[in-house]
Amino acid sequence: MVNKITVVGAGNVGATTAQRVAEKELARTVVMVDVVEGIPQGKGLDQWQSAPIEGFDSRIVGTNGYDETSDSDIVIITAGIARKPGMSRDDLLNTNANIVKQVAENIKKSSPNAILIIVSNPLDVMCYVAKQVSGFPRERVLGMAGVLDTARYRAFLAEALDVSVRDIQAMVLGGHGDTMVPLISYTSVSGIPITQLIDKAKLDAIVDRTRSGGAEIVKHLKTGSAYYAPSAGAVQMAEAIVNDQRRILPCAAWLDGEYGMKGLFLGVPCKLGRKGLEQVIEVQLTSDERAALEKSAEAVREPMKSVKL
Ligand code: NAI
Ligand code: 2OP
Repeated sequence: MVNKITVVGAGNVGATTAQRVAEKELARTVVMVDVVEGIPQGKGLDQWQSAPIEGFDSRIVGTNGYDETSDSDIVIITAGIARKPGMSRDDLLNTNANIVKQVAENIKKSSPNAILIIVSNPLDVMCYVAKQVSGFPRERVLGMAGVLDTARYRAFLAEALDVSVRDIQAMVLGGHGDTMVPLISYTSVSGIPITQLIDKAKLDAIVDRTRSGGAEIVKHLKTGSAYYAPSAGAVQMAEAIVNDQRRILPCAAWLDGEYGMKGLFLGVPCKLGRKGLEQVIEVQLTSDERAALEKSAEAVREPMKSVKL
């Protein structure tokens, strides 16, 4: 358990994240910040009242400012808007970049030693904004997307094979978007290569469904995007850090030469421990996977150019 975890944004992802953090007792205090007056206070109070039933002692506090967040050990940033009809991707990019910029400036002042886990979209670019604005080293700025994309891939595979999700090992790398890279060469079921268990057409269909996993949920919900699995992903990363678990999870990390790339956030296998990013693990890729990762990196670099910091 750490002393304090702050969740910025008390919307669908943020509030669910705060509840999961508290239920796992990852921090003594969980602070939820949002710009809308009353929302973090009301949700925080409601969540705290679930403590006697669920049996957790983490205190949840909701606020519109940053005083209560001071000296947080971990800050999970979920603040932002989702794309609305008539908005271009650039509109979303600039709006959320301004929000993440403002959040990162506040966190830099109030919690200069925090580890940041970014969730806001477009994910890889928002990680870049948070890192540039906070000035935090790469060990303390990570993005959550690969855990979610991999969970979707594992869930679809478990369903298709009628096996436990626990036995599916897999990793989805690259940017959080259409160009993400599910690594078939590292997908196995209790060590059995996936290609021995499923035919190519079915596997290709699962890979495609994984790539559009977020859009499939938006299509059902109509007014919002996924939040149960995204919050679970962010909390899995926080738990690995709090408990120094040394887990290897696919996270967006700032590359400094790994995979032959520098100066961008991209989903890669990361070892997470108490310092945050302990190591970027470089795995061998097939030539197709390497080409797909490079294409995905291009899709991240392009929008980075239009961000004004
Ligand atoms: P939401 O609309 O339910 O919540 C967003 C919250 O952010 C709102 O309560 C809003 O008032 C708040 N907010 C806006 N500006 C703020 C500021 N300056 N400071 C503090 N709070 C502020 O949206 P939801 O569903 O929670 O999604 C949040 C973000 O996470 C979106 O950008 C979404 O696209 C992204 N996302 C990313 C995923 C990933 O895999 N990385 C998965 C799911 C969502
Ligand atoms: C998702 O993949 C919207 O990025 C979000 O569900």
